[in-house]
Amino acid sequence: VAAQFAAGPLVGKRIIVTSGPTHEPIDPVRYIANRSSGAQGTAIAAALAALGAQVVFVTGPAEVAPPQGVEVVAVETAQQMLVAVEVALPADAGVFAAAVADWRVASASDRKLKKSHDGLPKLEFAENPDILKTVSRMGAGRPGLVVGFAAETNDVIENATAKRARKGCDWIVANDVSPATGIMGGTENAVTLITDAGNEEWPRMGKAAVAERLAQRIAAALAG
Ligand code: CTP
Ligand code: CA
Repeated sequence: VAAQFAAGPLVGKRIIVTSGPTHEPIDPVRYIANRSSGAQGTAIAAALAALGAQVVFVTGPAEVAPPQGVEVVAVETAQQMLVAVEVALPADAGVFAAAVADWRVASASDRKLKKSHDGLPKLEFAENPDILKTVSRMGAGRPGLVVGFAAETNDVIENATAKRARKGCDWIVANDVSPATGIMGGTENAVTLITDAGNEEWPRMGKAAVAERLAQRIAAALAG
């Protein structure tokens, strides 16, 4: 596998990709999570590796199998994902495609909550660390290129533009995940790439094609 990827514009570049959902335990048998198959993040990691990058693929429990030719770091929670990303640094670029749960249960039970004894559970939440924001705003050791995603159901460009500023990342890949688009859980994606240079609306295409185009753009940016 290594020999297959021994050439390409990303040879010698180390890139961290986060992907999939995170699972935040309620008790040993229950969790809260975001909807995410991991398909887009997996396709991006595969496309970067195909261009020669050394990819560290930090993945939550995804439906889609991780790609070949990458270093896989499997995690469950947002807090574990942050630690895995910090351990994987430094890197030339980071692509944060994971659907990280924004909240975790503040004190998960170490035994199964029972219907009969415990009544209705009163879950209290705590906010999870923002991995993209943490990496975007780190001074020394920040990857030269930090790419985030913004999955929105409404006011997509407006929300994604604000998100880019708030997080401090270089690029945001904005996509419309309103149920009518069928993108969530589907094989296609329709994205707008938001950078310093403005907004680029890409035509609707397969998730692999989005990944390849993004990988080419990352290669050009790291070369330039
Ligand atoms: N992200 C992250 N860590 C979090 C939450 C989000 O790294 N705890 C990253 C995602 O991987 C994605 C980007 O931040 O690249 C945007 O995620 P999103 O959920 O759209 O943004 P939030 O800031 O959580 O805002 P919202 O309230 O819209 O969910
Ligand atoms: Ca969120």
